[in-house]
Amino acid sequence: MAGKKILLTGATGYIGGTVLSTLLNSEAESITGAAISVLVRGEHQAGVLKDKGLTTIDFKGFGDDDALREAASEHDVVINTASGFEDGFAASLIRGLAERKNALGVDVHYIHTSGTTNYANSPTLNLYPGYNADLVSDKATAQVVSTLRHLNEQTPYAQRTTDLAVLSVGKETGVRTHIITMPMLFGFGTGFFRKLTGQLPILMGEALREKQMWIVGDGTGVKQHVHIEDGAAVYELVLRRVFEGLEVPSGEEGVIFVENGEHRWNEAGEAIAEVGRRLGVLDTEQVRRLSLEEAGKALGIEDINYVEAAYAST
Ligand SMILES: NC(=O)c1ccc[n+]([C@@H]2O[C@H](COP(=O)([O-])OP(=O)(O)OC[C@H]3O[C@@H](n4cnc5c(N)ncnc54)[C@H](OP(=O)(O)O)[C@@H]3O)[C@@H](O)[C@H]2O)c1
Repeated sequence: MAGKKILLTGATGYIGGTVLSTLLNSEAESITGAAISVLVRGEHQAGVLKDKGLTTIDFKGFGDDDALREAASEHDVVINTASGFEDGFAASLIRGLAERKNALGVDVHYIHTSGTTNYANSPTLNLYPGYNADLVSDKATAQVVSTLRHLNEQTPYAQRTTDLAVLSVGKETGVRTHIITMPMLFGFGTGFFRKLTGQLPILMGEALREKQMWIVGDGTGVKQHVHIEDGAAVYELVLRRVFEGLEVPSGEEGVIFVENGEHRWNEAGEAIAEVGRRLGVLDTEQVRRLSLEEAGKALGIEDINYVEAAYAST
């Protein structure tokens, strides 16, 4: 749609880079006609993105509130893929969009990136007694948001706190918010910078170093997953619907889960071990089981709750 302006954060990252290339390659007229700006820090990154024809806006980091508000106030849609863990960052971007809405009376949208670790159970640490992660569904949005609040009251988690901030600042300002909640991502990103994500590639790197695959705990936790390009297609879909004036759920209704399959950690660990052994890069098909503490130490993660949520939960 001619004249629409999109601001993307995280363009140098795994998700943001893939979202960017998806939008640049989009065949939807409503997207090809829009102008894309990217918020970046660093001259090298800005140079590469400028060469691709993008407008780059410099900022100093997540706490650069004035620059963030000003940048957002010049766009109709902000897609934030830089971090789901920074509530102040998200709030500044939404407040900037609100300035545009109030000044010009136009419809503005904030598309946020979050993750399913927000809803992870806690089989080992038992942080959430009685909680059943299998029952969470974006078809029951009121229950999703009450789950976010309920779990965060028991154990605060920055990615949940940020989702809740997005919902409350969106409601307060009248900016329509859409929270895209990613599961475990896999596959090579298609952006201009980071092409790999964490979790499985990190465990593969550990396995290559130790010549043996390991997972955390008993491996019975179930992870939903999606290929990064399929995940990025969801941003394109939401954006198209916004630009084409079609209904897109927003606010508390607009917490959107993305997945097209699931696996247990056991299955992933055993498959990696089997392939690694076949390729001759691992010494054995046996998969070691590490405790949360052992895994935290190996991965350099101090927050044991996060180790459980990211590597040993459903
Ligand atoms: N990857 C996954 O599997 C996954 C799954 C579920 C949810 N998520 C959510 O998606 C978010 C992004 O994931 P990702 O895998 O795309 O991350 P990533 O590849 O590490 O990319 C992070 C992006 O944020 C920017 N950034 C990092 N620290 C910054 C700072 N202090 N100030 C300003 N910009 C900063 C980076 O820019 P520079 O190049 O300047 O560092 C980069 O563009 C995560 O925070 C998480 O909430 C990810």
